[in-house]
Amino acid sequence: MSSNNPQTREWQALSSDHHLAPFSDFKQLKEKGPRIITKAHGVYLWDSEGNKILDGMAGLWCVAIGYGRDELADAAAKQMKELPYYNLFFQTAHPPVLELAKALSDIAPAGMNHVFFTGSGSEGNDTMLRMVRHYWAIKGQPNKKTIISRKNGYHGSTVAGASLGGMTYMHEQGDLPIPGITHIAQPYWFGEGGDMSPEEFGVWAANQLEEKILELGVDTVGAFIAEPIQGAGGVIVPPATYWPRVKEILAKYDILFIADEVICGFGRTGEWFGSDFYDLKPHMMTIAKGLTSGYIPMGGLIVRDDVVAVLNEGGDFNHGFTYSGHPVAAAVALENIRIMRDEQIVKRVHDETAPYLQKRLRELADHPLVGEVRGVGMLGAIELVQDKATRKRYEGKGAGMICRTFCFENGLIMRAVGDTMIISPPLVISKAEIDELVAKARQCLDLTLAALQG
Ligand SMILES: Cc1ncc(COP(=O)(O)O)c(C=O)c1O
Repeated sequence: MSSNNPQTREWQALSSDHHLAPFSDFKQLKEKGPRIITKAHGVYLWDSEGNKILDGMAGLWCVAIGYGRDELADAAAKQMKELPYYNLFFQTAHPPVLELAKALSDIAPAGMNHVFFTGSGSEGNDTMLRMVRHYWAIKGQPNKKTIISRKNGYHGSTVAGASLGGMTYMHEQGDLPIPGITHIAQPYWFGEGGDMSPEEFGVWAANQLEEKILELGVDTVGAFIAEPIQGAGGVIVPPATYWPRVKEILAKYDILFIADEVICGFGRTGEWFGSDFYDLKPHMMTIAKGLTSGYIPMGGLIVRDDVVAVLNEGGDFNHGFTYSGHPVAAAVALENIRIMRDEQIVKRVHDETAPYLQKRLRELADHPLVGEVRGVGMLGAIELVQDKATRKRYEGKGAGMICRTFCFENGLIMRAVGDTMIISPPLVISKAEIDELVAKARQCLDLTLAALQG
């Protein structure tokens, strides 16, 4: 992104000389220079060129209550002055972490009343892996080590997180996955359903879980982990038949079910958790992102009471982080949850804005470039195709990246996963802002189609 603004160029030079950005081609970014985001308010960002951009991704799916809430800044400042840090290792605790654990128990599904805190979603999933294996060892079944996950699922970027995830481009770097993690098919009907109906495909994809359990032997399988709706994989909303069949399979075999709620949690589906939306009844839920609305890093694992009862018999759990339950992060999370409850943000998403967003988004299905529009709550996906009837893509043309670039240039952040455009706006987006988002999306679809055909 070249700029005439000397200030922008100065920051880009700093980037080029000193910064290694996540999930980036270092060399390419060095040459191109990043877009510099300087401030934000509500659902909008501003860059160093003065452009105002509607953030259709809530940052990285996290800024639930929107940008610029002074209450969270004040909560952080107050806690920093009172007790900026103390750890939880030496049989100590502090008020914010305890109050937060209680607040999370209050909003979590019934019977999930204990929380282990981490610094991120990835660390939450690392914790999960160790806790699952510890659980089975305590129960005298140490061989139940394997975790079944799904292709194209996303569970983070640490060694365990990336291994649990099913992103092959991540596995290719660094000999992943680590042993004891295996992947089954994802319930992505649009991309992989072939001639099956969505309902048939949902059952087929769920049955892959049973086949894998039987192949490995139930006495070697510790857990199944899944996002209620895959986020980074492309907002993959499973067919209606998928979760009921998975639940049947999970009830039949003695394995733990882990819902990765890092994206779906904290109101994104219009319920507090994706597990509420699909009635999943997991043993553990990984959380992060919306927990603090992204204002400060924090993640964790909410654990069901019957699992905790077993862990209570196991002596020390030799695991934790310097920043587990950091008091400042906990104070911010508490304030974030207070705002969400007091302002009834989840209810408003459920009753008003999510139905409106879903209705308006689906209007884009008439666009010649659009093969499918799907979504739940404040999550949406738009499939870009060359042929609507056969779901054939514009092979090798990078339609998604073209569209993403047009979006940026026209004041909208919409992310591309291959040729799937995805959105996940702040939960506080208004109906007028939804209208703006959809209008900009249509404009960028027009521009993308013209570029592809030109
Ligand atoms: C479902 C899911 N799990 C885990 C993670 C990892 O979280 P973090 O980036 O905080 O480590 C993410 C991040 O996008 C995610 O989407």
